[in-house]
Amino acid sequence: MEIMDIYRQHFLKTGDRGKSITFKYRLSLILTVFLVFPNFISGQQSQEKPDYSNYRKVNEFFNDNEHCFKCHGYPQYILVDTVFNNQITKTMCPSMIIHRKDYYTSNHKSLACTDCHSTEYHEFPHPLEPRMEEHLTCIDCHGGDENMAKYHFEKIQEAYDSSTHAQIPGFSCWQCHNPHTYKINIRTTENLKMAIAYDNAICLSCHADADRFKLLTRRKEINIIQKHEWLPNQSMHFSSVRCIECHTEVNDTVLVAHKVLPASQAIRKCTECHSKNSMLMSTLFKFQAKTKRSETGFLNTSIMKDAFVISANRNYYLNLISLILFGLAVAGIITHTILRIILKQKKS
Ligand code: HEC
Ligand code: HEC
Ligand code: HEC
Ligand code: HEC
Ligand code: HEC
Ligand code: HEC
Ligand code: HEC
Repeated sequence: MEIMDIYRQHFLKTGDRGKSITFKYRLSLILTVFLVFPNFISGQQSQEKPDYSNYRKVNEFFNDNEHCFKCHGYPQYILVDTVFNNQITKTMCPSMIIHRKDYYTSNHKSLACTDCHSTEYHEFPHPLEPRMEEHLTCIDCHGGDENMAKYHFEKIQEAYDSSTHAQIPGFSCWQCHNPHTYKINIRTTENLKMAIAYDNAICLSCHADADRFKLLTRRKEINIIQKHEWLPNQSMHFSSVRCIECHTEVNDTVLVAHKVLPASQAIRKCTECHSKNSMLMSTLFKFQAKTKRSETGFLNTSIMKDAFVISANRNYYLNLISLILFGLAVAGIITHTILRIILKQKKS
């Protein structure tokens, strides 16, 4: 999704009443169709039994997880009263809905729900004790894991602990890394623009959504479009660089810097990026820079490939040739002068 679409979506929600009314109207129309033709709907469903074979391939606990997905995979679930043999349909709170497709393509696609949640969740209504348990942290599973050494979890933890978000009660790694959908991007991506949009959507999930923002702070919503008015062509910049480029402290060890600084320390100087020593080489283009640099002789090739950052791109060979030409010219002038002096002396 384009970054501006994400904006529009969020701001439409609060700003554009007209649109949301037509949306509600359409929604009620769809619902009426559902209510009037219930048989039609259930017929449709049984015909199109989805194919889950790919999910079974990546997860050996697929069947166990279905116990949870039968409720948490849909906007509605069926509440059964076994005593009076009664059942009704209830709506699931949107934040509790998990889509199988997202889950089985995420980093944690091979896990059982009960690897992170208590097995007591098999009971419904869910009992109180598991709800009171603290969630596992990333380090609980990944700390000291040699297979994951390249990610430097400990260093990331350290950086996060000193970030501005870490001071907010209720904030944790899970706020940015949705436990059921998160997947690595910038390390593996073939499409840098998509990875940028993915990463920025993480920040925008709060910074462009007043409802989610307000769950964590009493502070008034920060209007980020207004806060970045000083930046020319904002939408172009927001789709070419990540928020973290300007808002985190550069970190040499980890690929994705995690120390989000107070706003007063954010980068504002154009030349931080628009210069020969563009800091983007140690942030956004870090991974590409390590693997692809100098294949073609261009310094900052990775910048070239996806964007032309004014004055950040220079060609090494072109620079060398111009230096040599300059050198030759100087050498020519010097020899010429010496020869003339010698000739003059000979004449006199
Ligand atoms: C019969 C439907 C149903 C089944 C089956 C079900 N859940 Fe739930 N679950 C719900 C509903 C409804 C809620 C929200 C209401 C509530 O918290 O009781 C919920 C809430 C939760 C919560 C949030 C609890 C909290 O207090 O924050 C977790 C976590 C959860 N379920 C995990 C699971 C897991 C894991 C499984 C499978 C082992 C599972 N659920 C199976 C219906 C179900
Ligand atoms: C890698 C660990 C992990 C796995 C695997 C996992 N969860 Fe979760 N889940 C969490 C964490 C952590 C939270 C709390 C997130 C937060 O605090 O924002 C959570 C929250 C939830 C919630 C409550 C959401 C809310 O808004 O309060 C539900 C429901 C849930 N999980 C169901 C499931 C189901 C169903 C599965 C299996 C398909 C599953 N989880 C697999 C870690 C996991
Ligand atoms: C319950 C233990 C558990 C927790 C908690 C957990 N993970 Fe994982 N994570 C795993 C396992 C197991 C794998 C390997 C999955 C596989 O290879 O299919 C994994 C894989 C990953 C990967 C690597 C994906 C890849 O393909 O190389 C990343 C990145 C990752 N987790 C990040 C996190 C982050 C960030 C958190 C916290 C927000 C977290 N994990 C919490 C168990 C966990
Ligand atoms: C403010 C948001 C935010 C918080 C909080 C956060 N992260 Fe991240 N993290 C990101 C973003 C954005 C990325 C880049 C995702 C991508 O493109 O792969 C990322 C990437 C990662 C990666 C993959 C880096 C790589 O080398 O490919 C790991 C591992 C990780 N985070 C771990 C953590 C851990 C552990 C915590 C908590 C101590 C944490 N994160 C907290 C935003 C956050
Ligand atoms: C080119 C650098 C740059 C980029 C890219 C950038 N910011 Fe900023 N941001 C700044 C600067 C500089 C400020 C301080 C503005 C001020 O003080 O008025 C700021 C201010 C903010 C604030 C306001 C904090 C406050 O307390 O007033 C938030 C929130 C914020 N940015 C979030 C984001 C998010 C989310 C993104 C990605 C969509 C982003 N920024 C992209 C440089 C940037
Ligand atoms: C889960 C919600 C959430 C996510 C995701 C999130 N933030 Fe924030 N952020 C907040 C809240 C809440 C505050 C306000 C804290 C306060 O001052 O009360 C904040 C504050 C900030 C500030 C201002 C700090 C100051 O000096 O006042 C910056 C800058 C910022 N966030 C940048 C980011 C960036 C960059 C990302 C993505 C990597 C991000 N945020 C992701 C919730 C979030
Ligand atoms: C965080 C790094 C960063 C900062 C800071 C930054 N820029 Fe950029 N800027 C970029 C990137 C990357 C592009 C390339 C976009 C592309 O071509 O895809 C760009 C492109 C541009 C362009 C070309 C626009 C076009 O339409 O092609 C202009 C003009 C520009 N920036 C001006 C500025 C000015 C003025 C500032 C300071 C107020 C600034 N930038 C700060 C990263 C940055």
